[in-house]
Amino acid sequence: MASKIFNHGRIERNVTILAVLSLLVVTVGGIVEIAPLFWIDSTIEKVEGVRPYTPLELAGRNIYVREGCYTCHSQMIRPFRDETERYGHYSLAAESMYDHPFQWGSKRTGPDLARVGGRYSDEWHVQHLKDPRSVVPESIMPGYSFLADRELTTGDMSAHLRALSRTGVPYSMQSIAKANEDLTAQADPNADAADLVKRYPNAQARDYDGDPSRITEMDALVAYLQMLGTQVDFKSAAPQEQVR
Ligand code: HEC
Repeated sequence: MASKIFNHGRIERNVTILAVLSLLVVTVGGIVEIAPLFWIDSTIEKVEGVRPYTPLELAGRNIYVREGCYTCHSQMIRPFRDETERYGHYSLAAESMYDHPFQWGSKRTGPDLARVGGRYSDEWHVQHLKDPRSVVPESIMPGYSFLADRELTTGDMSAHLRALSRTGVPYSMQSIAKANEDLTAQADPNADAADLVKRYPNAQARDYDGDPSRITEMDALVAYLQMLGTQVDFKSAAPQEQVR
């Protein structure tokens, strides 16, 4: 019946009509799937606690990218039991919503780092980064001792934050204006970090690398590592569901 009404036989035998009509069908399907993404505000659910990175964490993140840590480490815990038991709650999309570019990674020569923050002391990180085998004898991770000798030179962090704010990271005008002060305040144990914490809730300000006299690349990288995965409070959240 249907083939009589639409003359399907003719469509199937004429390659031009078949191609044109197929294209039409695929186009309609594509528009239906893709178009709504342009109108809904966000495809990522906002989650309490997730905030933009502080200037020091951002500088540490840049070092992480520069040194290619992502070639061996992922930052995305998948919702499988073996992963959540080892690394903690699976990663939420919102936890990397301010990452430009994201650091999910595609290879794990070393462990996932999405929730490494707070798992070790600063001293452990510094020692491990300087000489991984001094704390993990079987480690194949390369050493990065030079980070402790290199003064942190970031250039103007205000410009960096402004660029990120243009991509949608909600840095306030004040955060942008005070970016360079905030960077110093987070790594200098003598500085007043009250304003920093007001702008970046739960930011931890201290000397990270064991040398309070100057701010090194090690300070920035350890500040970044110690923040990873600590923004969302999963302990007070509902019991997590396991995918079995
Ligand atoms: C050649 C691969 C490789 C590279 C590059 C690498 N790592 Fe690792 N990393 C490892 C391996 C393997 C381990 C596990 C053994 C150990 O703890 O040293 C590890 C462990 C770690 C740990 C401890 C994680 C945990 O949960 O115990 C941290 C933190 C870490 N790496 C940070 C970094 C940072 C930061 C960089 C870049 C500066 C980096 N790694 C570069 C291979 C690598």
